[in-house]
Amino acid sequence: MKITKICCIGAGYVGGPTMAVIAQKCPDIQVTVVDLNEARIAAWNDADVANIPIYEPGLDAIVAEARGRNLFFSTEVEKAIDEAQIIFISVNTPTKTYGKGKGMAADLKYIELCARQIARVAKDNKIVVEKSTLPVRTAEAIKSILDHTGNGVQFQILSNPEFLAEGTAVQDLLHPDRILIGGDSSEEGQKAIQALVGVYSNWVAADKILTTNVWSSELSKLTANAFLAQRISSINAMSELCEKTGADVNEVAKAIGMDSRIGPKFLKASVGFGGSCFQKDILNLVYIAKSYGLNEVADYWEQVIIMNDHQKRRFSNTIVQTLYNTVADKKITFLGWAFKKDTNDTRESAAIYVADALVNEQAQIAVYDPKVSEKKVLADLDYLETRTSAQNKACVASFEDPYLACKGAHAIAILTEWDEFKEYDWKKIYDSMQKPAFVFDGRNVLNAAEMKAIGFVYHAIGS
Ligand code: UDX
Ligand code: ADP
Repeated sequence: MKITKICCIGAGYVGGPTMAVIAQKCPDIQVTVVDLNEARIAAWNDADVANIPIYEPGLDAIVAEARGRNLFFSTEVEKAIDEAQIIFISVNTPTKTYGKGKGMAADLKYIELCARQIARVAKDNKIVVEKSTLPVRTAEAIKSILDHTGNGVQFQILSNPEFLAEGTAVQDLLHPDRILIGGDSSEEGQKAIQALVGVYSNWVAADKILTTNVWSSELSKLTANAFLAQRISSINAMSELCEKTGADVNEVAKAIGMDSRIGPKFLKASVGFGGSCFQKDILNLVYIAKSYGLNEVADYWEQVIIMNDHQKRRFSNTIVQTLYNTVADKKITFLGWAFKKDTNDTRESAAIYVADALVNEQAQIAVYDPKVSEKKVLADLDYLETRTSAQNKACVASFEDPYLACKGAHAIAILTEWDEFKEYDWKKIYDSMQKPAFVFDGRNVLNAAEMKAIGFVYHAIGS
């Protein structure tokens, strides 16, 4: 089957960049990204590509090249569904905040709404692709909805999880480690798989395109995220032990990372992992394991989250204890608010939880992040519902200039590993701060010896 029209429902951190790269690499395919959120679509269509709603290095250039040629952003969801041969579902699947599975299971209501809409609109056969990370066997539910409510047309459901990491999304999409496509073994299922393989073959080598059954594909995505998060919790657990024993976690990470069986990546101790995926996916895995009565499996993976929460709490506790057991009315400057560098995404960022804990201790928080606005910082805190918006506003302010943010501060906490923090004039910052001037480096990005030579009381993670 020759594919000429694709649509993607959901113009978020996954759908937007993924479709931009498909459009760039497949000029013969018309790619339409649709979303209910009018403001988001308007931002994707902004004449100035610097204003697209997602910051990812290199994405603006790709959008500039493909937009209007074969890449379109629209709110006309039904029209896009009707015209497309392949429909990617890339809507949000947050952790449930109500009912059975509250706080653990993935909330599939947006997925179900999408499936019902596709069923209602589709008048010819469609390939429906799960792009959002979903619990195992979601494809079955989608298929059931499509088959029972559709107009008698054939649907093939594929699972094609996205492994891109934010901040490196464009490079990950252009040079993926692998593309995973799960489908059923029927003749029609295999044809659908091959149609999608054909799309990726425009730029991905055949040996990197892996085809599996649907359940293996769905579970592989959860497993990959669980393994990655587990490595971070493992090194973070060691960081606390290092602090007690005089070992240095960076040296330990280097020493173990040189073992080719372990490998050097994802061994950076930090204030704790954030992002929209790790916590959500592990909680989901725990929920699935429990629902099959696999309590030991569930407990094993839950420990990754318990350790991560501990690491965030430990960081704020260290700040309070080091500042003579009180931060009340003290100015503490956060450098970084995003959950990692090179993204404007703040979902589950450790900064949110550390700020919340310090505001509970009546600290005054100043924030500087090169890509996150004050509006977003306050919205993140409001979302926790610890206090009212007005109360958050009275304790937290954001700055556009890092030097102003640090002026008069009692302490600086580094929450995101933005490269620019290494380039600052730290002597100038030191001179403008209250003394003793404390730095809590939650990302181990600064040079400890240099910071101490300037006069800072410098605390790193894991040493
Ligand atoms: C992750 C997966 O990497 C990606 O494959 C999947 O598709 C989505 O989830 P993402 O959350 O975008 O991607 O970023 P990632 O680079 O994995 O970082 C997640 C969090 O872990 C960040 O807060 C990051 O700062 C933290 N981290 C990462 C560490 O603390 N230490 C490390 O060594 C690596
Ligand atoms: P991700 O990081 O997984 O891409 P986001 O939350 O950034 O997730 O994006 C998901 C997008 O999906 C949101 O912009 C939301 O408005 C959109 N969305 C959710 N449900 C629907 C729907 N039924 N139709 C169209 N768009 C939807």
